[in-house]
Amino acid sequence: MKVLIADDSRSMREMRKGTLVEVGYEVVVTEDGRQAWEALRKGDLQLAVLDWVMPGMDGVEVCRKIQSERAFHPIHVILLTSKEGTENVVTALTAGASDYICKPFHPEELIARLKVGERNVDLQIVKTYFDTDQFTVPCFPSDINLVMLSIITNAAYAIADGMNGGKGQKGIISISTRRAGDYAEIQIGDTGKGIPVEIRPKIFDPFFTTREVGKGTGLGLTISRSIVVEKHGGTISFDTETGKGTTFIIRLPIGTDTFVKDER
Ligand SMILES: Nc1ncnc2c1ncn2[C@@H]1O[C@H](COP(=O)(O)OP(=O)(O)OP(=O)(O)O)[C@@H](O)[C@H]1O
Ligand SMILES: [Mg+2]
Repeated sequence: MKVLIADDSRSMREMRKGTLVEVGYEVVVTEDGRQAWEALRKGDLQLAVLDWVMPGMDGVEVCRKIQSERAFHPIHVILLTSKEGTENVVTALTAGASDYICKPFHPEELIARLKVGERNVDLQIVKTYFDTDQFTVPCFPSDINLVMLSIITNAAYAIADGMNGGKGQKGIISISTRRAGDYAEIQIGDTGKGIPVEIRPKIFDPFFTTREVGKGTGLGLTISRSIVVEKHGGTISFDTETGKGTTFIIRLPIGTDTFVKDER
């Protein structure tokens, strides 16, 4: 697995890189917070070891950026610091860091904590592919966000249910967008348990749920369909294979105008 390192001290960077390469990690080295953020936002790095104090953007600011701008992509960030004390631990964790190590530390400790990080990010990987073609979709963004959230939540449950105790299996949620004729197409795929044949015709029905009583309302897909089809003139469909996974496909008409303003 790839690990990003950010430290403004050259000797520290080299030393950490050496430690991690020795145990088999592929290492991406950056010299400050801004470089680290540029590398992390691309989306293929899931483990990061950031020094807290760096010129320009520091480690905590990078954590905040990750938290605010990459909601769908899990990144396990370990912050390194010589700042001790509860207050600093709280600052680091609330900024979005997953873990915190006080300097000086033994290289073995860093490796052990990276293994924990690997386990966390392995459980669920989110992949995104966005078409860079410029086109405008007139929509109510908060409604479309709700649809995305609903379908991604379903995908996460389907993966968790399909794990059978989770022995070394990874679940993948892939999100992609592309232009399909006069439509913008969003696909949200999961490698979960799939939708059984007998319930396929019912999943958009109001109050239809296979989740435990009190857990699911069975309205997620009903509301999503009404937003996409009735409110936006689009379509929503799915492809599924039992035991393999499901892909939801949303199509929204592309506009010639600029964005319609959200009503809220
Ligand atoms: N990605 C998926 N993989 C497998 N089954 C799915 C998936 N998405 C939806 N389903 C099935 O469709 C049912 C209805 O989904 P829907 O989102 O409408 O309701 P819910 O998730 O059960 O409850 P909630 O109202 O909290 O969303 C789910 O209970 C589940 O059985
Ligand atoms: Mg749901």
